[in-house]
Amino acid sequence: MKRPFLACTRCEKEFPLERAHPRCPDCNEPLEVVYPRLKKSAIPPGGTLLERYQAFFPFASIHPEISLGEGNTPLLESSATASELGVRKLYFKIETQNPTWSFKDRGTVAGLEQALSSGFRKIGTVSTGNMAASVAAYGARARMDTYVLVSSDLPEEKIGPIAIYHPHLVLVEGDYGGLYFKSLEIGERFGISFINSDVPFRVEGSKTIAYEICEQLKFKPPDYVVVPVSAGGNIRGILKGFEEFYGVGLIDRMPKMVVSQASGCSPITTAFEEGRDTVERVPDPHTIAHAIENPFPPSGNQVLRKLKECGGTAVKVTDEEILGAQARMAREGIFGQPAAAVPLAAVKKLLAQGYLNPTDSVVCIVTGGGLKYTAALVHHHFDVKKVGIDKIEEAL
Ligand SMILES: Cc1ncc(COP(=O)(O)O)c(C=O)c1O
Ligand SMILES: [Zn+2]
Repeated sequence: MKRPFLACTRCEKEFPLERAHPRCPDCNEPLEVVYPRLKKSAIPPGGTLLERYQAFFPFASIHPEISLGEGNTPLLESSATASELGVRKLYFKIETQNPTWSFKDRGTVAGLEQALSSGFRKIGTVSTGNMAASVAAYGARARMDTYVLVSSDLPEEKIGPIAIYHPHLVLVEGDYGGLYFKSLEIGERFGISFINSDVPFRVEGSKTIAYEICEQLKFKPPDYVVVPVSAGGNIRGILKGFEEFYGVGLIDRMPKMVVSQASGCSPITTAFEEGRDTVERVPDPHTIAHAIENPFPPSGNQVLRKLKECGGTAVKVTDEEILGAQARMAREGIFGQPAAAVPLAAVKKLLAQGYLNPTDSVVCIVTGGGLKYTAALVHHHFDVKKVGIDKIEEAL
């Protein structure tokens, strides 16, 4: 019986699951986990994220003690915004309710489980914020030696929420894009499992977003799933999740994926619009949505390949549109960071362009919480009154 293995997303060359390096030595493209014998399985109602979906992972056993309660996030239907925008059904998948307030915890717990089962005692990551906090938190929980490499210009506001978990935190000067590849080399030399943005098991973790959406919609998937994309690991995982449930017959049709990026850093959308097969480095990235400001996404080419194979589209939105979407979500009680508002801004644009129709159902992935980046709030206008205690009635 053939066991799960890793395969290159481009040339399909196969590697053992235990291989530490996450990319193909020939193509330098990302590897991913392939399951030759996945089958339809009952999903138990309780347990940790990995326990519930163990049948869709290669882990012989699960360490529930490393869980911080990730996943199982709400899928909120928003009829008010749906009718305002003119779409049949609109849902928000609220990833801000994960233990470190972003979807990253799903991939971190899967990456950590794999690191443990491969005998690693050290984990690490390269990140600008959310993934750093997530890996630091799970590393602390699992009592692992944890190494977090961040860019030296990371704002002070973002350092404390990583440092609080006491990882080995290193601010690195130099090319941030190159740091991803450098960390993989360091990892091989020092026995550190780097759970970076698009490594195979982080992608495996992200697929549980799709699994949950399927369950929450009673196995009737939406027409479109809109994802804010940076490195490309998360959207790859979400698509893989739908493909796996489709493959085993748990759903009978596939949703289309929408890549949403900020116009100040949109390497994948630009390549898609220009009909190119590969991404080009963005020379001067700048957007309010810092969490998706990767100028040279390591999974960019694979995301383009999958869009070509499965349909879907890619769109870019301006910072103004992102802030507008952030405000609109807040009017529904949902506070996402700017990157997490990019999907809603994209939905509005795609409706205006006629790509989305009034009969469609759409899920937006709200990838990270608004409190992660309060500096963005200065761009909003708030009507706040200040009055003396005797003037409250008048003010109201
Ligand atoms: C809030 C938020 N949204 C979206 C993304 C993009 O995910 P990915 O890098 O997997 O494409 C990230 C991560 O970098 C993020 O932190
Ligand atoms: Zn290859």
